[in-house]
Amino acid sequence: MGLKNVKAYIGKRIKEIKSGVGNKRALVATSGGVDSVTCAVLAHKAIGSRAVILFIDDGLMRQDEGRKVKKDLARLGVNVKILNVRADFFRALKGIEDPEIKRKAFRDTFYKTLGRAVRISKASFMIQGTIAADIMETKAGIKTQHNILQQIGISPRKYGLTILEPIKDLYKFEVRMVARALGVQPEYSERMPFPGPGLATRVIGEVTPERVETLRKATVIVEEEIKKAGIKPFQAFAVLLKDRATGVINGKRTFGQIVVVRSVDSRDAITAGVTRIPFSALEKMQKRITGSVPDVTKVLFDVTPKPPSTIEYI
Ligand code: XMP
Repeated sequence: MGLKNVKAYIGKRIKEIKSGVGNKRALVATSGGVDSVTCAVLAHKAIGSRAVILFIDDGLMRQDEGRKVKKDLARLGVNVKILNVRADFFRALKGIEDPEIKRKAFRDTFYKTLGRAVRISKASFMIQGTIAADIMETKAGIKTQHNILQQIGISPRKYGLTILEPIKDLYKFEVRMVARALGVQPEYSERMPFPGPGLATRVIGEVTPERVETLRKATVIVEEEIKKAGIKPFQAFAVLLKDRATGVINGKRTFGQIVVVRSVDSRDAITAGVTRIPFSALEKMQKRITGSVPDVTKVLFDVTPKPPSTIEYI
């Protein structure tokens, strides 16, 4: 199932972007996720260089992400600019532990940054890759998705923005169909979802550059071992807990950090089951994480489906 006619869908969306933007410019923020990459390519096809594609380096992305996205999208003829605003995001998140306050602080900084970027690039519109599940979850009051404003009564005008959301009627598996048809590399079209607020959704408690760096290192290991094990979960990632646990590092008692490995299978992100990861892969993750990520003394595996959990931890 899914989209009946992908080519016709793409044609329709390109036409809509063309007529919506007219002879003006539009900014597209891309995180390297399939939704925003699909939007960037659609916008590029619709309005060429009048689509300004921006990677916001908020300090919460995975290892080397900006550089990779820039290089890979260049192969599709899409020129990505990188904007380093790490300090703004860490300042906004400083001292916040509550999950919803954290999400709202992220959202506010995200849109303020975009408002500024739109003015600087002299764009009249912002195009973003909101999809159906994002809208549903925020409206249902489950959590504040970073990219939902107008659907919950916040005017994008507050940030000086007029927002277009060309793929908001699609679910993730349908976005992948569109991405494939647009010629997006499988690395992106088949990529695991990564939430807009990035590693901030996976650091429980305060988000600091040091804690994000610990999680980033663990994230690389989880993703690499999943790949090596030849399994393809909907999403697999690491989470850094706020609690600590006693361990022994180099023969010394250490009250160290705890990393959780979470892996789920899903089609639409609305419900999710737990991936049956081979125990040998989990063991490898544990060995590499406690062996190379400083200060981590414990690795746990999460066996909870959605519901009752959600996929992310905040
Ligand atoms: P949850 O945690 O609600 O996640 O079960 C469902 C899917 O949405 C992703 N997610 C987000 N994506 N902005 C996004 O773009 C967000 O604020 C956000 N929060 C969660 C999550 O990774 C999963 O794929």
